[in-house]
Amino acid sequence: MQTRRLPAHERAAIGCWATGRDRSWFAARTPEEQDQALSAGERALVALLTARREAGLPLAYLLGFREFFGQRFFVNPSVLIPRAETEQLLEAALQVVSEVVSEVSSAVASDPAAESRPALQVLDLGTGSGCLAIGLDVAARAKGWPLALTAVDQSFAALQTARNNALWHGAHIQFLQGSWFEALGQSESRFDLVLSNPPYIAAQDPHLSQGDLPYEPASALVGSQPNADGLDDLRVIVGQAPRWLRPGGWLLVEHSHDQQPQVISLMQAAGFAKVVGQADLSGTPRLVKGQL
Ligand SMILES: C[S@@+](CC[C@H](N)C(=O)[O-])C[C@H]1O[C@@H](n2cnc3c(N)ncnc32)[C@H](O)[C@@H]1O
Repeated sequence: MQTRRLPAHERAAIGCWATGRDRSWFAARTPEEQDQALSAGERALVALLTARREAGLPLAYLLGFREFFGQRFFVNPSVLIPRAETEQLLEAALQVVSEVVSEVSSAVASDPAAESRPALQVLDLGTGSGCLAIGLDVAARAKGWPLALTAVDQSFAALQTARNNALWHGAHIQFLQGSWFEALGQSESRFDLVLSNPPYIAAQDPHLSQGDLPYEPASALVGSQPNADGLDDLRVIVGQAPRWLRPGGWLLVEHSHDQQPQVISLMQAAGFAKVVGQADLSGTPRLVKGQL
């Protein structure tokens, strides 16, 4: 097994987690002073976690959590580890919700009967740890925005993790198990916003054997087979979304760095107007949004 030395921030994260001490405690002491101060049990736990990390196990799975959008989410090998670039999808979703909420407020100002409009319906497809749906719920509660959230995953174990995260964050979300929109069954629901970070890595992509990816669920990375170009799940989601969106509803999807032109074409072919591609904070094309 390949081993490697850990960067300082990973050693600090392991030290803090294993001993309950904070970063300043470690920063103020030399490694020798730390060793002297720690109990034998603490030293053994730090050594065990360090060895596992050096052997390749993702830090987030070792510690059991990952920060996403300023919130802590429980993770385990049944869910994708939330990525920093996916925060861009959450920000874009919040922007859409904010615009829809202001449109509704303007409508209510000119026609009080519009106040009876129900909460905005939002659907998160492939929720995994629940980071997107829960992040939306937390932000919407802080703003006083009325959202009704539904989150779908085909993995029972992932949904259990998402439920735990929702409980931890006090989020009210309807969780459904099933494949994409099929999970909604015969529901009459129509959504104002559908968002998804689906599996989009091509089955033969060499990155699948690198970094954290070999430890993450293949169903979260590659998804439907054969997925030769990584777009199979995006084709299903984009193709079926119009049937589940209200007129004027939005679809937001994350995609791989080289898929934006194809995803834009898929959305235009499915009947979306105002189809716009966006880049993440590193400038990499990362998501496409479109309005019906
Ligand atoms: C890339 S992960 C995204 C997880 C989470 N939303 C995030 O952004 O970190 C994709 C998720 O889609 C789920 N998934 C894969 N195929 C699916 C399908 N056909 N129907 C529903 N969910 C599916 C996987 O189980 C996984 O949780």
